[in-house]
Amino acid sequence: MPIPVIDFSKLNGEERATTMVQIAKGCEEWGFFQLVNHGISVDLLERVKKVSTECYKIEREEEFFKNSTPVKRLKELIDKKSGEKLENIDWEDVFLISDDYEWPQKTQGFRETMMEYRSELKKLTEKVMEVMDENLGIPKGYIKKVLNGGEGEKAFFGTKVSHYPACPHPEMVTGLRAHTDAGGVILLFQDDEVDGLEILKDGKWIDVQPIANSIVINTGDQIEVLSNGRYKSVWHRVNAKSNGTRRSIASFYNPSYNATIAPAPELIEKENETVNHLCYPKFVFGDYMSIYTEQKFLPKEPRFQAVRAV
Ligand code: OGA
Ligand code: NI
Repeated sequence: MPIPVIDFSKLNGEERATTMVQIAKGCEEWGFFQLVNHGISVDLLERVKKVSTECYKIEREEEFFKNSTPVKRLKELIDKKSGEKLENIDWEDVFLISDDYEWPQKTQGFRETMMEYRSELKKLTEKVMEVMDENLGIPKGYIKKVLNGGEGEKAFFGTKVSHYPACPHPEMVTGLRAHTDAGGVILLFQDDEVDGLEILKDGKWIDVQPIANSIVINTGDQIEVLSNGRYKSVWHRVNAKSNGTRRSIASFYNPSYNATIAPAPELIEKENETVNHLCYPKFVFGDYMSIYTEQKFLPKEPRFQAVRAV
């Protein structure tokens, strides 16, 4: 069963109501869905692919295979011939960009293209968040406002450029170990050809099927709290592959570190939940991140419990 594919352009026409329902289902039942006709031009997406791949080839690949920890540890394990799998490490090359990070220097056009992409993607994220507001029955702009700590533009919009290099022993290591995302709303532009991303749905791992130029949306732990459990953050992982290098560019709209996160008042069933403590906790996002950093690859429920106690 493939994850839902939704035509975002239909939000502006006669099929608006149906599209709103599709997105609501994507959020409630799947936690992951793909948008096509999302308004980001194919020309820009093609340029993003080009500069990302070039950057990996020019500035990262050699270093990965010469000096990276996963490569060294995999070699050791192969030499040992013990049949063990590599634990506690991911088979990935990754770097983060945001407006204030250091940018890769040697790839022509990287910075300009990614600045343009990030600005377009941030606008798309805000549109998606407004759809979520409407579907949840909370005021328009509510999610954005909370993630920005109440006002202004304080949320953190980051972009993670990942490559999962072709792996000689994909059965011995994971590309990215299973986790739920910590933050708000995540928009992923994944490789057209090399697959590997899977989500856990009803106890089974299923593929996030590559569709050229689509954008995959998923929600993080903070949206689960804010929606009081209506939109659950979903476990996902990336398998290592031997047939090629997989590119994936994840942009995330996360709360500012001092934003207060709590279930939206409209979504709390007062009698049942506040009294019985079934409700999600209220906390400051920075405190959550201190816990997440230590526990990223573990279940989220203990993180919610730990942050409730801070
Ligand atoms: C992540 C993530 C998936 C991918 O960065 O949190 O899940 O396909 N990435 O790279
Ligand atoms: Ni993730």
